Amino acid sequence: MSSTTNGTGPSITTGIVSFLVPPADKSVELFAYPDPVTGGRKNNYQREDKQIFVENLRGKEDSVTLDTAGFQFFHAPAAHKTFANDEEIQREYYPESVELIKKLTGASRVEIFDHTIRRRNPDQIGDSPDKRQPVPQAHVDQTAAAAIDRVHRHLPESEAPKLLKKRFQIINLWRPISHPAWDWPLALCNYRSVDPENDTAPVTLRFPNRKGETMGVKYNPNQKWKYLYGMTPDEVVLIKCSDSLQDGSVAVFTPHTAFEDPATPKGSPFRQSIELRALVFYD
Ligand code: OGA
Ligand code: FE
Repeated sequence: MSSTTNGTGPSITTGIVSFLVPPADKSVELFAYPDPVTGGRKNNYQREDKQIFVENLRGKEDSVTLDTAGFQFFHAPAAHKTFANDEEIQREYYPESVELIKKLTGASRVEIFDHTIRRRNPDQIGDSPDKRQPVPQAHVDQTAAAAIDRVHRHLPESEAPKLLKKRFQIINLWRPISHPAWDWPLALCNYRSVDPENDTAPVTLRFPNRKGETMGVKYNPNQKWKYLYGMTPDEVVLIKCSDSLQDGSVAVFTPHTAFEDPATPKGSPFRQSIELRALVFYD
């Protein structure tokens, strides 16, 4: 199967992914900070590499939704296709993506606050902020507290409190650029297979001018990881990072990670992708 250049891929594959190893003392604050020399990240905690099994949902794309699993695949070609520079992306790709997210989720208001382009380059050492690489590290982009912080940071103080009274989410819109992402695809973990209390821990990001908070993810063999083999630029996955609705009725967040897929056809072009981060509000 690993030598086919087309087709639907294997039914299941594997990856080696880095997971958080939280210290025994739960009161210790875990933190990470940019290394001024390499631009990469340093931290005060341990990690471990583990093998995960990743089910290919090609042909079963509709078996997961934002509310049942925490992520959802859609066929959704974009008008903007070049992704050449940030200014153009903000001017052209942001507005159509706001409309797309509204249409796909039924949200009444969508505010995009950030994006990351990743173009894999095996010659690059480490993951620098201006040349982001796919990183095989299980994580969730924000904790619930960091999600609320984002609303205050990106929206006027006259609107934030009112918006936070209703349901709100942070959703990433992830899309391959230029060619299918056979190389270093994205694996996503079904929320229903995660033990939210025991499988995650907050990690403070200490930047020179501000703090952020992400969730590190601990390995748990019960976690059910999924991907879409050869995801094309005309396909997107919505990744729910946070949901204010936490009564148990819906998936709240989605651990995710890049991984090197042994089923990648030989000679596949390196993965290129863009992820947008959006505040998503409902009436
Ligand atoms: C994301 C993310 C990793 C990758 O979209 O939030 O973590 O390799 N992406 O694309
Ligand atoms: Fe992420």
